[in-house]
Amino acid sequence: SPPLNPVVSQLAWMLGTWVSEPAGEGQFPTIPPFRYMEEATITHVGQPMLNFMFCASNAETGKPMHRECGFIRIKPGTNHVAFISAQNTGVVEVEEGEVEGEQLSLTSNSVSRISFAKEPHVTQISRKFRLTPEGKLEQTVFMATASQSLAPHLHVTYRKVTS
Ligand code: HEM
Repeated sequence: SPPLNPVVSQLAWMLGTWVSEPAGEGQFPTIPPFRYMEEATITHVGQPMLNFMFCASNAETGKPMHRECGFIRIKPGTNHVAFISAQNTGVVEVEEGEVEGEQLSLTSNSVSRISFAKEPHVTQISRKFRLTPEGKLEQTVFMATASQSLAPHLHVTYRKVTS
């Protein structure tokens, strides 16, 4: 594979195929708490961006659930990051934020959706990615909906399954 484009070298710690371990934990004030499995694949093809695909499934049955894919970009010469995601729920969103060391904090500046997306509609998404001291990737997601202010939705830690 081509060398990592130096524009995105600050995000190199995200690269790899990662599998939730332990199971991810989901919650929101309006729903029962749940556990889920997720595979996160973060790759590059030498362009000044990363490509990602997150595939969640039911922790017990393996049935596919939430999926999203997109791109992670950096404003060249800065630590300003843009995260662009298309989700199987019909949501398309852009988050921006900063990478600081091995932590990336993002907040949505745009959330859009198909006309027949399920309600309640998500109105804001904030997430953090971090590499733990043990070398695991962690993702934490907060969201707000048309009927609920910002609250935790997801927390998951992944083990790297590629070298
Ligand atoms: C519910 C958004 C990721 C599993 C919801 C709801 C919204 C939402 C708006 C409805 C909440 C309500 O009824 O008040 C999102 C967004 C995500 C995301 C924006 C990504 C940024 C995930 C992931 C899973 C998941 C990765 C893992 C399986 C669920 C479940 C429910 C739910 C099980 C409750 C049942 C349902 O409404 O389908 N989510 N979600 N979500 N989400 Fe997520």
